[in-house]
Amino acid sequence: VHSITTVSKVSVEAGKSISIPCLYESQYIDHVKYLCKGHTWGYCRYAVKTNKPDPSGKYLISDDKIQKIFTVTINELTDKNTKYWCVVEIDNGKDYGQYFQLLVISGTPSVYVDHQRITGYIGENITIRCHNSNSGAMKWCRLDRNCVTGSFGSTDGTTVTAYMRDSNVFTVTMSGLHSEDSGWYLCAEGDIQIPVYLNVTEKPIKSEYCKLSNILHVNEFNTFINLNVTEKPITSTTTAGNNTCKKKKS
Ligand SMILES: *[C@@H]1O[C@H](CO)[C@@H](O)[C@H](O)[C@H]1NC(C)=O
Repeated sequence: VHSITTVSKVSVEAGKSISIPCLYESQYIDHVKYLCKGHTWGYCRYAVKTNKPDPSGKYLISDDKIQKIFTVTINELTDKNTKYWCVVEIDNGKDYGQYFQLLVISGTPSVYVDHQRITGYIGENITIRCHNSNSGAMKWCRLDRNCVTGSFGSTDGTTVTAYMRDSNVFTVTMSGLHSEDSGWYLCAEGDIQIPVYLNVTEKPIKSEYCKLSNILHVNEFNTFINLNVTEKPITSTTTAGNNTCKKKKS
């Protein structure tokens, strides 16, 4: 049985953009993927393919072959085109697709996050606030994996705590992030979901460290000059200059 995992319904604001992840099976890594527009599978028309960009720029597609997820982005949302399929193309066979629907409204979406793409740092925590205007039970799920519904749980070994801060904000904290936590998550209430991409990276070295390392380099340089240069007086002053602070390999 073929399967693509994606959202079912996403509440979005007219005029804005939305990115939707479509998870596929490993045997289709090298296949063409596309977004098909239309309510009925037999009559949908492609909007963008991984090998055919949309010249208008309304639709974008990218394929992460490591996570086996292709992502479609739809810009300038309107209530005209709201029914789509994530599709894997099959040479000499029937393509297969998974349906999803956008609920385009002119006001605030019923389930939303402030940012669809967020960055966390290895070993640190990240908090996601998921807003909900329906006050139903909410959950936080890794796409196609386990969900955290109540107060405490985990997704792939990272501790997740989640609670409703007042009746409309579901607050999710993921503690002690690993690089493997990078990927797509869904915040959901009933059958309405909002996908969130978490990028877990190494924390950039703090500017305090840069300042300190530059000072140390200057001092070392001065010591070197004092010990070795005896004839000529030093005419130019040494400064830390515009050295960029490079990350140290650990
Ligand atoms: C994750 O963040 C890093 C560092 O900012 C960036 O280089 C990388 O492209 C990001 N990855 C994705 C998939 O957005």
